[in-house]
Amino acid sequence: MMATKIGIAADHAGKELKQLIGEFVRMKNYEVVDYGVAVDSAKSVDYPDYAAILSADVASGKLDLGVLICGTGIGMCITANKFPGVRAACVWDEFTARMSRAHNDANIICLGARVINHHRAAELVNLWLDTPFEGNRHKARLDKIREIEKKLSVR
Ligand code: RB5
Repeated sequence: MMATKIGIAADHAGKELKQLIGEFVRMKNYEVVDYGVAVDSAKSVDYPDYAAILSADVASGKLDLGVLICGTGIGMCITANKFPGVRAACVWDEFTARMSRAHNDANIICLGARVINHHRAAELVNLWLDTPFEGNRHKARLDKIREIEKKLSVR
């Protein structure tokens, strides 16, 4: 069986947390692809650039899942959800981490490095990865999101 491929990306506000989450996810035997920004980079970067390269690969199926980190998680989440097929969720506690998988089948988790501490962030990623999608009525709701994406897409 092929390993689940997870992309990770962050801006300057999230690069240290990205490093830690990358190591944590590797320890859980996932294949990790790091989209930057490099932890030793001194520059201030724009979160949409990093959200976009990772989200494009989730949308195309090159990645199974993604982790996006900025100061709040919000900018990454707004950008990621522009990509059809991406269901990005900004998560800050156990309930939102669990529900984003169980009900929304979120394929990208967005974290705020200035909102939660590193230990908590790793716990939430762990919970997010280990929670299965419940399907059934929730699947029908995701199908409706797909329909909206189709209607809005430029032909
Ligand atoms: C960068 O200062 C900050 O705006 C960014 O990391 C993020 O919080 C945006 O949503």
